[in-house]
Amino acid sequence: MEIKKYTNLPDEAKRIRTEVFLDEQKFSVEFDEIDDIAAHLVLFDDNGAAAGVCRYFFSEEKNCCMIGRVAVDKAHRGQGLGSVIMLEAEKLIREDGYSKIAVSAQCRVSPFYESLGYKKTGEEYLDEYCPHIMMVKEL
Ligand code: COA
Repeated sequence: MEIKKYTNLPDEAKRIRTEVFLDEQKFSVEFDEIDDIAAHLVLFDDNGAAAGVCRYFFSEEKNCCMIGRVAVDKAHRGQGLGSVIMLEAEKLIREDGYSKIAVSAQCRVSPFYESLGYKKTGEEYLDEYCPHIMMVKEL
């Protein structure tokens, strides 16, 4: 397994995010201006196939780093890869000198982030009709 970091959104990330967030979860807006400033991680499995993605960036509004667009393609879920890519993003964020991370989590998958030490904060809100909650972790 290998994780690569990109400063421009790579085709592998475009493909997985399209399949997961647009085709599977039916969101209508996926790619945005944050993609231009974010770092993008792609996890490749042992056969060299892209299996998971996330992006991270510094948010002026939240005054911390945010990890987002976390997705593992369907065939690779439940094998710990989502956790692996999150931990790699955290490592890189720590190396950049930041000590706090926020994620805008779909409420449905909050147990995934809780398993990584993120804590819910504030009220639930809707993003494209989907319940979300802000979750934070101090590194
Ligand atoms: N709902 C609730 N808990 C979940 C979960 C889900 N969909 N997926 C994982 N978890 C929890 C489990 O407790 C799991 O622990 P276990 O191994 O003891 O069962 C732990 O998180 C680690 O899971 P892991 O195998 O590392 O997760 P994954 O590789 O399957 O990736 C996602 C998790 C959420 C990235 C993946 O399911 C996915 O891509 N989902 C669709 C996209 C999405 O919803 N992204 C989140 C946007 S906020």
